Amino acid sequence: MGLTEEDKQRVRAIWVPVSRHAEAVGVEVLTRLIAAHPTTKTYFHHLDLSPDSAQLKALGKKVVDALSCAVENLDDLPGALGKLSELHAFELRVSPSSFECLNHCILVTVGAHSRGSLDPALLLSVDKFLGSVARVLTSCHR
Ligand code: HEM
Repeated sequence: MGLTEEDKQRVRAIWVPVSRHAEAVGVEVLTRLIAAHPTTKTYFHHLDLSPDSAQLKALGKKVVDALSCAVENLDDLPGALGKLSELHAFELRVSPSSFECLNHCILVTVGAHSRGSLDPALLLSVDKFLGSVARVLTSCHR
């Protein structure tokens, strides 16, 4: 199901503080990913993912910045994420299930920092947004 205008407004609002702390959020998301879903580590075997690693910080920031770009282009996600889709599907060959794991970690991270302000409706909108991003990034698989 696509994002409604209400979903888009909620996602834009929630994403303001996230985009301002892109590196810290990204590091937390990736750290949660490899801790909760250790098999995803294989995708990052060539990177140093230890705490405080410069590579972890750089990748974390890149991932959140890409999501911020998607939030700025909610009406054209395929256009905003086209190059990343080719990278993840053809070069990195990331499985659709890994996207579900990552999205879960993004939701947990955003929720953990919302100080109770993330009500179920907001959470649902973010969930729908992340699902739409994953569909675009895995669309080359089909
Ligand atoms: C919300 C979904 C995702 C977004 C927005 C995203 C975004 C990005 C971005 C922006 C880059 C850097 C591309 C570049 O340097 O040109 C990247 C690289 C990468 N991504 Fe993703 N990604 C997502 C999901 C995933 C998932 C689920 C995995 C695997 C579990 C993954 C594995 C990788 C790997 C291995 C790299 C290359 C890292 C490197 O060699 O520096 N990504 N991703």
